[in-house]
Order: sequence, then structure tokens, then C-alpha cells
Amino acid sequence: MKISIIGTGRVGSSTAFALINAAVADEIVLYDLNKEMAEGEALDLLHATTFHKRMIIRAGEYSDIEGSDIVIITAGAAQKPGETRLDLTIKNAKIIKGISENIKKYAPNTLVINITNPVDVMSYVVWKVTGFDHNRVIGTGTILDTGRLRALIGKNCGVSPMSVHAYIIGEHGDSELAAWSSAMIGGVPIKGFCRNCPYKNSCNIDLNKIFEDVKNSAYNIINKKGATNYGIASATTALVESIIKNEGRVYTPSVLLDDIYIGYPAVINKDGVERTIDITLNEEETEKFESSKSIIKEYLESIKN
Ligand code: LAC
Repeated sequence: MKISIIGTGRVGSSTAFALINAAVADEIVLYDLNKEMAEGEALDLLHATTFHKRMIIRAGEYSDIEGSDIVIITAGAAQKPGETRLDLTIKNAKIIKGISENIKKYAPNTLVINITNPVDVMSYVVWKVTGFDHNRVIGTGTILDTGRLRALIGKNCGVSPMSVHAYIIGEHGDSELAAWSSAMIGGVPIKGFCRNCPYKNSCNIDLNKIFEDVKNSAYNIINKKGATNYGIASATTALVESIIKNEGRVYTPSVLLDDIYIGYPAVINKDGVERTIDITLNEEETEKFESSKSIIKEYLESIKN
């Protein structure tokens, strides 16, 4: 299992670290325009492998991604305090086009996971430029947002996030939405969960506030530490695990839907996106999802040609 990571800034290096801890790869190649930085990360990470799994980790040129099973794209301008993800569109589209051409040239059979923001728009660019089947081009989409939602609900309700089934779908950005009408805790619809909860009298859970906190997570983290990296690294590693182990986990990656890429529930197996799962949305959610689609379309239009 060979994985290449394009871009070894905070997200790329944290992703490599998370992959090493998960002991899923036999070889990891790190590519960055700043070769020295990639080499430094490779050396440091090699020492980390000692404690998990014997494997190769090295910095390389584009030609070294040849034979990759998975290429992970993290390169590009990152959100600065006050910037939205969509503000990065023009800058990152150029970078992503160049990277995609190199992936097509050197690793024509690979699966691609794109993390670079705005992830929905950039994943579409990767899909178009590589010409790969859409199931082999996956954006990280709202996988992390869904994780953030589950973490906050779990914390509020005193249950494991793994027992929370609730999705954030749509743009990985300001127009995303929580699909509350299908949300469950332990198989019980979330809206009715409180009725039998022993803590209901002392609890003041506010689902709207939880959603706002999820949506603004990245802004809050970027304001405090300048970037987000661990959450997305773990989300990406979970995606990789479902691919490598052919597990069929359901996540909300950015996938092709109505000729755009957007965060939506999908089954992930060895071939990438095996299928999407249509969750039932109520009228308000459907409206929000459609408007999120329009925003992504608008940004895609702005970079066509
Ligand atoms: C975040 C980045 C990955 O939401 O967009 O943390």
C-alpha cells in the first residue's frame, strides 16, 4: 500500500503522522515545492514509524508518486483569519490543476483524496483534469464537520460520538447544513431522545447552537492557532482505512452529484465511492441543500476556462 501526500504543511504532515499511527501504509511519499521541508518531515516521521509499523517514508519528486494506491492532495493556500474557504478559489484552482496533471501523468491508476479548500470546488477540478472515474476522486467534504457534530452531540448527551448518527451535508463551508430530520442517537430519532433522558431537567441542549459551533469550528480554531490540522488528518485517515480495508464505512465525503462535487453520505470501499446514500431531508433541509449546491456551482463557473 503506497500513499503519496502532495503538500507537507500542517495538514500534509499531520495526515502522514495519523497514517503512520494507524499503521495502514507500507510506503508514504511526501512531495512539497519546499523540498527541504518535505525531507525534514520525512526524517522526523521515519522515527515515528519505529513505534508502529516497519515502512518506508521518504520525500520525493512528482515522478516518485508512480505506483501510488492513494494520492492525498493538501497543497495550496490555507484559510487565514477572516477568510472563507471560498475566498481561496482562484488561487488554489491554478495549483490544483498543476497537481492533477502530474497525478494523471505519474499515477494514472491511483485513487485521489483531495483536502485542499474550497474542497468541493477543488475536488471537481481534480476530477475534470485527471479524467479519472468519479468514484476514484474523493474530497474530504463534510466528513470532519459530521465528526464535529457527533463530538458535540456526544459530549452534550453523555454518549459516544460513535453512537450518534447525524450528518452535516452540503458545501464544506458556510452554506453547509445539519440533516437533523434523520439524526439519531442509538437508533432513536434525536428529537425524541430527550424524552427518556434522565438528565432532561438539568440539560439545556440547543441544537441550533451546536450546528453554529460546528460550522464555525474552523474559524475559531484558525483564530486561535492559525490553522486546523489534527481533525482533518484523522478524518482523512478514517477514509483511507475504509478504502484499504474495503470496509464500506459511510462518511460524508465530497462526491459527484448533479455535476458538482458536494458533501453527501456515501459508502467507501476499496474502489473509493461505492455509492451515495439518499437520506430523507425535510422541506427546509432540501431547500438549504439546493442553495448550497448553487453556491458551489457559482464558484465552479468562476474558474471555468
Ligand atoms: C477544517 C478545514 C479542513 O474545517 O477546512 O478544519
